[in-house]
Amino acid sequence: MKLKILVVAGDGIGPEVTHEAVEVLREVAELGGHEFTFTERRIGGVAIVQDGTPLPADTLSEALASDAVLLGAVGGNEFNSLPPDKRPEAGLLKIRAELGGFANLRPAFAFRELAVNSPLRPDIVDGADILFVRELLGGLYFGAPREWDKATGQAWNTMRYSRDEVARVARIAFKLAQGRRKKLTSVDKANVLEVSQLWRATVNEVASEFPDVAVEHQYVDAMAMHLMTQPRHYDVVLTENLFGDILSDESAVITGSLGMLPSATIGGKVNLYEPVHGSAPDIAGKGLANPLCAILTGALILRHSAGLETEAHAVETAVRKVLEGGFRTPDLARGQLNVTAAFSVLSTKGMGERVRQTIKEQLLAVRS
Ligand code: NAD
Ligand code: IPM
Ligand code: MN
Repeated sequence: MKLKILVVAGDGIGPEVTHEAVEVLREVAELGGHEFTFTERRIGGVAIVQDGTPLPADTLSEALASDAVLLGAVGGNEFNSLPPDKRPEAGLLKIRAELGGFANLRPAFAFRELAVNSPLRPDIVDGADILFVRELLGGLYFGAPREWDKATGQAWNTMRYSRDEVARVARIAFKLAQGRRKKLTSVDKANVLEVSQLWRATVNEVASEFPDVAVEHQYVDAMAMHLMTQPRHYDVVLTENLFGDILSDESAVITGSLGMLPSATIGGKVNLYEPVHGSAPDIAGKGLANPLCAILTGALILRHSAGLETEAHAVETAVRKVLEGGFRTPDLARGQLNVTAAFSVLSTKGMGERVRQTIKEQLLAVRS
């Protein structure tokens, strides 16, 4: 199997966690005799500083010529006063738009071993396994008009969707639900917004193509609460762009940390893979970042771009085994009276190394 992967590590903890994911993918390739090639390019704040733009043309052309793009994170406090179209985040939005993937899959899986570390009670989170399908190219993020009119002291953005944009992402969500527990929850604000009324009507139309999937609708405010009180109730959760952004970060409480949420964006020219978290300026450069989100994002590359399900599963199982062994990064090490006695706390690199070692043992055991 040959795969050309473009790595755009970006800012803050992006390069730290991405490095660990790449090393895991290299290990998998070596063990399985696959040929993965990795090319690196700049995006985000680092590209603003070095190239004068958050998405250099050369990064975009390399991305379009690759089989998969692995992104770390973008953003930094020094760019916070820039207007939206000049910020590092603009580079991320542009690469998303150019690659064309509109279905952002954000699995929130509560590893049993982490139930003791969750801010929620173990009996609430244990067994939770949600797949968020976030629409990624529409809504407020891309709708026009948008402006901050400083003269009049007003600003506006536009939440806009077409029926086709809703239908295409809904279809992907229903198909994914068919391969899981056959339940789909669509999130909207149809009690207030016309866009949400269109959203709900379209989801109901698409639902008739998938009679084996049970559909329910939830208002986004109630959903934010239900997610915390009954996360096990949900299977596939379909959302528009901004609601999905917010609810997926909230689901970090279910998984134990933002450092446990991977993502894959499909449906476009080239799939884009990125952890859900940002550049985490508060912990960047200190070896404190949890690389498991990036490593689990690597597993999604194996699943969705390489078609290597056994290897994807092996990576996820290795993560589980490492957690079972009591290894934690600092963000996960909580919830016990004596945390240091209960867990071995590892650095970003230490955690990456543990996962690689475990994958090696596992894949070699499968072969012998
Ligand atoms: P953030 O996700 O960077 O961090 C939120 C909190 O979670 C911080 O306390 C951080 O330390 C912690 N955290 C995040 N990832 C972690 C990890 N892997 N291990 C341990 N702890 C982790 O969100 P923020 O602070 O609101 O944003 C910082 C910058 O990142 C902003 O510029 C924002 O726009 C950007 N951002 C980028 C992306 C992306 O590139 N995909 C996503 C979200 C935010
Ligand atoms: C995410 C991030 C991005 C988003 C930002 C950085 C543009 O928060 O991937 O969740 O809002 O989509
Ligand atoms: Mn977000």
